[in-house]
Parts: sequence; structure tokens; C-alpha cells
Amino acid sequence: MNGDFIKAAVIGHPVSHSKSPLIHNYWLKKYGIKGHYEAIDVPPEKLTETLLRLARENYTGFNITLPHKEAVMHRCDGVDALAKSIGAVNLVTIENGRLMGTNSDAFGFAGAVRQEHPDFDFTRGSVLVLGAGGATRAVLHALIDAGAPDIRLCNRTKDKALSVGEGCADPARVKVIAWEDRERDLETINMLVNTTSLGMAGQPPLPMDIGALNKNALVADIVYKPLKTDLLNRAEKRGNKICGGIGMLLHQARPAFQAWFGIMPEIDETLKELVSA
Ligand code: ATR
Repeated sequence: MNGDFIKAAVIGHPVSHSKSPLIHNYWLKKYGIKGHYEAIDVPPEKLTETLLRLARENYTGFNITLPHKEAVMHRCDGVDALAKSIGAVNLVTIENGRLMGTNSDAFGFAGAVRQEHPDFDFTRGSVLVLGAGGATRAVLHALIDAGAPDIRLCNRTKDKALSVGEGCADPARVKVIAWEDRERDLETINMLVNTTSLGMAGQPPLPMDIGALNKNALVADIVYKPLKTDLLNRAEKRGNKICGGIGMLLHQARPAFQAWFGIMPEIDETLKELVSA
């Protein structure tokens, strides 16, 4: 690859909102690598031909965002155990024309918490996870991997939570609770994570009273627009540690950059400001 111009991309539909080009092009410049990362809008019916084109045109790899995360998994030549366990591929490396899929969202979640709260101990107590969508699987994986002893999984549609819980790496550690019970026993938890879309710009805020929440609990939200959701604002006001979704977004990009360009990039203040703008 030395001396070559390296191409990578994110595919999605829509994709114009993606912050990934900003992140990767910032790092390419910072580390003096000749290359470019672009956003490619790919409607579902164009997915197969686009994947063939990226391989033919010697792209080093690509990220996948909605709605292709599951479909790409089935079109990869190889998918690692991590992506299989999470049930979605968000990162593909093209090796000799073969598409090799993995998932960096769990790394992103754990990485963000560890960078922003280095003293936080995942093993200290229960975690309450709200939601049962694609991101929830990655968050569960990260929590299990980090040693969270037990996880309460709570989603408006209970059946979805049951299926996400059963499919995770250690179902014995996951207890599904009813959406109506999300405010119960908050004084005993070590961490609260919102993985629903509630609180996102254009969506209603998360309807949840956190008045009884343990003062030492860390409150994380995967929503990054706005940077600080209503939930995080309320948690911060009462003295809880908080972790916003922008950290997960930035950290999930690091293994991708390393896989494609050979350097594990650092998240500096300029990049944080750029992505937060
Ligand atoms: P995916 O990541 O698979 O695309 P998603 O639709 O983004 O899934 O997930 C949205 C999450 O936010 C789900 O957990 C959803 O709950 P349901 O499974 O019951 O749909 C949750 N969610 C969205 N709007 C909600 C609302 N008004 N009240 C409660 N939960 C909500």
C-alpha cells in the first residue's frame, strides 16, 4: 500500500448526516496519510452492485450504517465472532477482494466510558439498559465483556428485549423487566444506559423520573444529537457522572481507522469540537 492513495467509505441510506467522513478525513490529515473517506448513499436495491464495485475499485474497506448493517453481514465472505454475537456488521475490511466483517460499536461504547471516566468500575453493580434495538446488542456485549455482574434490560416492546437478551453473549446475566418498571430499584444501580431513540432531536425526551437514582451511578446515552440529552442534563444536575453518545461515535471509528490505515488514532480536543459542531 505504501505510496498508494487509500480509499474508504461509509455506505447508508440516507448517509448525508454521517459524521464518519469528518472523523476519518481529520485523522488522515493529522497522520499524513494519502487517502480519502467518502459517504456513499446506497439504496437497498443497489447494495450488491455497490459492494462489488468497492472491492473492484480497491477500496480498503467501509463502514455500514442504517439500513444495511444486517444485510451486509450476509454478503461478507467472512464475519468474526464479535459481529455474529452482536448480529450486525458496521466495519468491513477488503482483503484481496474479500469482504471481512466485524463490529466496533461495543468497543466504541466501552472506549468512551473508559476515556471519560477512567475510574468507573463496570463490575461494581447492576446496569439498567433501556431499549432493544441494534445499538442495544453492542452495548450489552460491551457490558458483559467489561464484567457487569447483572443487567436489567427494559424496552417498551418486551418481546424485543427478551430476544435481545437471549441472543447476547451471556443471557444468564440479563434480566428483562417491564417498561413500566424502569424506575424501580434505581438506588441500587451502578449504571443507566439509554439505547432508545428517545431524547434524540425530533423525538420526545425519555419519560423517566430519575429522582431515586444512586448518586454514584454513571448515566450514559447513545444519542449524540443533541450532545447532551434531557436525560443527561437531568442526571448531571443531580450530580451523576454522565457519558454522551458522541464518545461512542468517535471511539467506534478508531478500530476502523487502524484496520484500514494502520494507525490507532487518538481522539483530540479539535476532533471532539469538530464533530460536536
Ligand atoms: P434499531 O436500532 O433496531 O433500528 P430502533 O428502532 O432505532 O431500532 O430502536 C429504537 C429503540 O427506541 C427501541 O428500543 C424502541 O422501542 P420499541 O422496541 O418498543 O419500538 C425505542 N423507542 C422508540 N420510541 C419510543 C417511545 N416513544 N417509547 C419507548 N421506547 C421507544
